[in-house]
Amino acid sequence: MDVAASVADLVGKTPLVELKRLSPKPGVRFFAKLEGQNPTGSIKDRVVVRLLERARAAGALRPGQPVVEASTGNTGVSLALFGRLLGHPVEVCVPESVYPEIELLLRSFGARVRRIPRQAGIKTAYEAAQTIARDEGAYLLNQFGDPENALAHYEGTAAEILADLDRVDVFVAGLGTGGTITGVGRRLKEANPACKVVGVEPRLGVHVQGLHSLADGFIPPVLDESVLDAKIIVGNRHAFSHARRAMLAEGIFGGISSGAVLHAAMRIAKRIERGNVVMIFADGGWKYLGTSLWEAEEEADIDAAEDPLDDVLWW
Ligand SMILES: Cc1ncc(COP(=O)(O)O)c(C=O)c1O
Repeated sequence: MDVAASVADLVGKTPLVELKRLSPKPGVRFFAKLEGQNPTGSIKDRVVVRLLERARAAGALRPGQPVVEASTGNTGVSLALFGRLLGHPVEVCVPESVYPEIELLLRSFGARVRRIPRQAGIKTAYEAAQTIARDEGAYLLNQFGDPENALAHYEGTAAEILADLDRVDVFVAGLGTGGTITGVGRRLKEANPACKVVGVEPRLGVHVQGLHSLADGFIPPVLDESVLDAKIIVGNRHAFSHARRAMLAEGIFGGISSGAVLHAAMRIAKRIERGNVVMIFADGGWKYLGTSLWEAEEEADIDAAEDPLDDVLWW
């Protein structure tokens, strides 16, 4: 019998699946790590459970103390569930641009939601969360500033990838707090110093759920930019079309940032002849059902036109 003691024990150990139909050349193999299979449906469960456990163990987070965090969605949803499970009231500062489903999820899980004006973005939400922590005695989870964020990926996500695959040549993941890129990138480079680490950003001012443009001047303290070999800037159109592509070709129902990551991997594949390319699919498609993401658009139309907004900074 294999019975989990609690839902927190179900975090991580996500599957790595080969994308055989989408791998563009015989020598280039694509693999996706399906983080949507975590309990609240995203990679953020790894970070939230670790940050809460460490803070409680260190005495920084007291029993019953409220917890506050800034989030574009997934971290807030995860915190709403795991914070509550551990007996902490949860408040989440979200930019107004997040999808309605995310706010619904937050409220369903019992969190208080503080909406931050749309233009202000995640930096202002982060400042709002810091102010609430200071003025109201809440504990700031601090995914943007706590090195434990990247460590959750160094010890968890990356170790799982290395256990499943004997060699990783390219790693591609979205950039939000930078925790995934920093933690996984570092460990994969230790295993194979030639491994290239590619971060995926939205164009400045474009909303790609979960991702953040460094061009707005906010560099999250958790992000170690020296781990990055390249950045690929992806527009919404390609993110959407490639999320749909993963669903149609491989039966993988990923979110918008998964589409952005797949699109970036396709561009990388044009430059290399062989290698294992590992991608993070940070969440599933469920939260995006209210968008036009799943409505058919002629794939040929999208692919024919190289998005002029796409931008690449190579190693
Ligand atoms: C859907 C999605 N993709 C990617 C990311 C980026 O992950 P990280 O914060 O580790 O950079 C996030 C972060 O919130 C996310 O919600």
